[in-house]
Amino acid sequence: MNTEKSINILAIETSCDDTAASVVTLIDGVPTILSSVVSSQIELHRQYGGVVPALAAREHVKNLVPVIDEAMKKAGVSQADIDAIAVTEGPGLIPALLAGVSGAKALALVWQKPLIGIHHIEGHIYANFVRESKVESQKSKDLFPLLALVVSGGHTELVLMNDHFEYEILGRTKDDAAGEAFDKVAKMLGLPYPGGPEVAARAALVTSPARNATTVNNASCSDADWHSVAGGRKSQVESQKSEIESDVSKFKIQNSKFVSRFPRPMIDSGDYDFSFSGLKTAVLYEIRKTAEPDQDEPFVNAICHAFQEAVVDVLVTKTKRAIEEYMPTTLVIAGGVSANISLRESLTTMIQEFPYTTFTVPAFRYSLDNAAMIGSAAILRYARLTTDEREALKQNAIDLEPDANFPLR
Ligand code: KG4
Ligand code: ZN
Repeated sequence: MNTEKSINILAIETSCDDTAASVVTLIDGVPTILSSVVSSQIELHRQYGGVVPALAAREHVKNLVPVIDEAMKKAGVSQADIDAIAVTEGPGLIPALLAGVSGAKALALVWQKPLIGIHHIEGHIYANFVRESKVESQKSKDLFPLLALVVSGGHTELVLMNDHFEYEILGRTKDDAAGEAFDKVAKMLGLPYPGGPEVAARAALVTSPARNATTVNNASCSDADWHSVAGGRKSQVESQKSEIESDVSKFKIQNSKFVSRFPRPMIDSGDYDFSFSGLKTAVLYEIRKTAEPDQDEPFVNAICHAFQEAVVDVLVTKTKRAIEEYMPTTLVIAGGVSANISLRESLTTMIQEFPYTTFTVPAFRYSLDNAAMIGSAAILRYARLTTDEREALKQNAIDLEPDANFPLR
C-alpha cells in the first residue's frame, strides 16, 4: 500500500447518454470531489423515445473535451496535478463507451499517466462513499460487510461485499432491470423518456407517505434533495396534485375502479433473483382492458403508483431477507433507480428493524450517471497499488478496450 497523502484522479464516464468528467482527490482515505461536470443528452434522445447509440457517441465526441476542460478548471488543477486517469470500461453501449475510452487513452498517452478502467456499476456503488468538500471529509468508517442493492437501467442485483472491491452477487434479474421496467411502463402510458422520474412523479400524486430521512447517513444528501428527485418537475407535480385533490371523490372512484393490484414477481422465491417482465405485462393488460376515454390523468397516475408499489415491494422484501441472512454493517443503494423517493423511504422504514445496519444513499446528483462515482472507485483502487503496479497502468493508454459485458470483480 502506498502511503502518500494526496492523489488526484481525472475520471471520465460516457457509458450511456451523459458525458461526464470529474476530478477527485483522496483525503484521509475518503474520495473527495473537487469537480463534477455532467452534460446530459436527454433532450436529444427524448424525440426517439430512448437512447440511440450512434447519436449518443456523436454527442460524446462533441462534448467530451469541453466537459473535461470545465472539470479541470472547476477543480483548479492542471495536467501536472493529475496522478492518473480513470474511465468507464463497461458495461454500457459500445459506441458510447468508445468515445470516453478513446479520449481517456489519448490523454493518458500524451500526459504519460496511468489509465484505470472502471466497472460502471462499481462506480454506482462507490458513489455512496464520496464527500463533496475538503472540510466535510472525515476518516473512512468501518463499512463491511456491505450489502448493495443495485438498481439501474441495465442492472438489478443484490451484491455482498466483505471488503473493498470484493463482490459476491447474491442474485440478479432474470429479465428486465428495474429501471428498464420503469422506462417500458412509461412508454406504454405515452410518457416521455426517461420514464423512471416521470412514473415516480406521477405515482407521488396518488399518495404521499410520511417522509422520514432520519436514519439515512449521508451528509451530502439533504432533505431538500429528497424532495427534488423528479428534477425540475416539482412545481408541475404540485399543481397536478392540487388539481386531483380538488376532486378527491372522483379520483378515488376512478382509482379503485380501474387499477388492479399488480403481481410481485418472485417475491417468495426464496432466492435473491428478480424478474420484472411479468409485472410489465400485467401493466400492459391493465391498460388494454381499460377503455380509451377512461385512460385519463388519474388512471395514468394510479397505474404509475400501483406499478411503483409492486417494484418497491419486491426490492425491499428481498433486501430485507438478505439483511436477515448476512447481517451487513452497511446497506447502500446504487444506480439510477436509487433516486426513487418511494424506494428510499421504504428502505429507511425497513432498516429501522436492524439497528446494526446503517443505510447510506448517494446524494441525488450522484445517483444518476456521473464521473465522480468513477473517480471514487478509481482513487480507492489506485491508492492500494504499488509504484510498479501504477507504472504498469500506463500501458492501458495503448491496450484498454471497452467491454459491453465487463464483469464486476
Ligand atoms: O444508472 P442510470 O443513470 O443509468 C444506467 O446505468 O442504466 O439509471 C437510469 C435508470 C433509467 O431506467 C431511469 O428511468 C431510472 O434509472 N430512474 C428512475 C428514477 N430516476 C431515474 N427510476 C425510478 N425512479 C426515479 N426517480
Ligand atoms: Zn448508471
